[in-house]
Amino acid sequence: MNTFLSVFVTVISLGTIFGCLALLIWCSRDKMGMEDGAPTGHTYDGISELNNPLPKWWSYLFVFMVVFSLAYLALYPGLGNFKGLLGWTSSNQDVRSLEEYNAAAEKARTDELFVQYDREMIKADEVFGAKFRELTYQADGETYLPIAEIAQNEEATQVGQRLFLQNCAQCHGSDARGARGFPNLTDNDWLYGGEPAQIKKTIMDGRQGVMASWEAMLGDEGVREVTSYVLSLSGRKVDAVEAQKGKARFAVCAACHGPEGKGQIAMGAPNLTDNIWLYGGSRAAVEDTIRHGRHGVMPAWKDILGEDKIQLLSAYVYSLSNNK
Ligand code: HEC
Ligand code: HEC
Repeated sequence: MNTFLSVFVTVISLGTIFGCLALLIWCSRDKMGMEDGAPTGHTYDGISELNNPLPKWWSYLFVFMVVFSLAYLALYPGLGNFKGLLGWTSSNQDVRSLEEYNAAAEKARTDELFVQYDREMIKADEVFGAKFRELTYQADGETYLPIAEIAQNEEATQVGQRLFLQNCAQCHGSDARGARGFPNLTDNDWLYGGEPAQIKKTIMDGRQGVMASWEAMLGDEGVREVTSYVLSLSGRKVDAVEAQKGKARFAVCAACHGPEGKGQIAMGAPNLTDNIWLYGGSRAAVEDTIRHGRHGVMPAWKDILGEDKIQLLSAYVYSLSNNK
């Protein structure tokens, strides 16, 4: 908070409290020179006002609240940048980045300041960790079993499926068949490769698909022509002349999608010839992709789930298109 805001908040907070106190004192003075209970002479609809003092319990409560709020503001943060005499903070308030967050969380753990989440993770690890290890490691307990082999173990894929439902289904669907923008993981059509190591790398480190926007470079007509050519690649009926012109323009796309449009795993560039569409295969959807670009993000999971669980998840994902 900058200094101006800090002073502003402090003045308003203290001003309100002392203002209330002043009002209370002012109201409890006898300003009318009358005895308690004497009529003030104000009568409305037959109801007359008496000069009664404020009820004692109410005044004490009021004073108590003023004292309480001043004590609270002295002990805890609240008055602008003043950190409070107790030095209390809610968790990690000064954290500005993921690195700082991770460092703060790590420090809290080494100081044994476990938050509830950590405690539950430790407990879950005690209960399930051994099971995860049993399913993923070789008998020597040091090296992982190959993912393709874990995928043959029904118990392991069931555990993998549960992990998938908890962590992945919100994007890829509970049946892993995906949705618009979220790839189907069951169809053996891969953006980033379906070999066990490629699947594992995708899940560990995440992926970012970058398809630029081509509107500025190709113009309206160019976008239309390239769209026709792209649609023709999967056997759709299109204006042949337009597609021919689009083919000539496809050279700029070939760098990522390959000269024949069959895609390229290193870039995560989809195969455009198989009639499987990440963002929809209607003319409008394909044109929209080319015009405005796309930017699919698959999050990285290694810091969230750890490698043992990812080994199981990789086996589950691998099993979806390989166990028939
Ligand atoms: C926030 C949404 C989201 C979540 C959660 C998510 N993913 Fe993804 N995932 C994506 C997107 C988007 C892509 C495609 C990235 C792209 O377009 O380049 C993707 C891609 C993938 C791929 C690569 C598919 C291919 O064709 O190469 C795999 C495998 C995968 N995810 C597995 C998982 C697993 C396992 C989990 C759970 C641990 C998970 N995902 C959780 C959004 C998500
Ligand atoms: C820098 C590499 C790159 C270039 C160049 C490129 N693309 Fe892409 N394209 C991608 C990537 C990566 C994706 C997937 C985006 C995602 O995962 O979010 C994609 C997605 C697409 C899709 C969507 C496919 C689907 O399944 O929904 C179409 C259509 C497409 N590109 C057409 C083109 C055309 C036409 C050009 C040339 C004008 C082109 N791309 C140039 C990388 C590229």
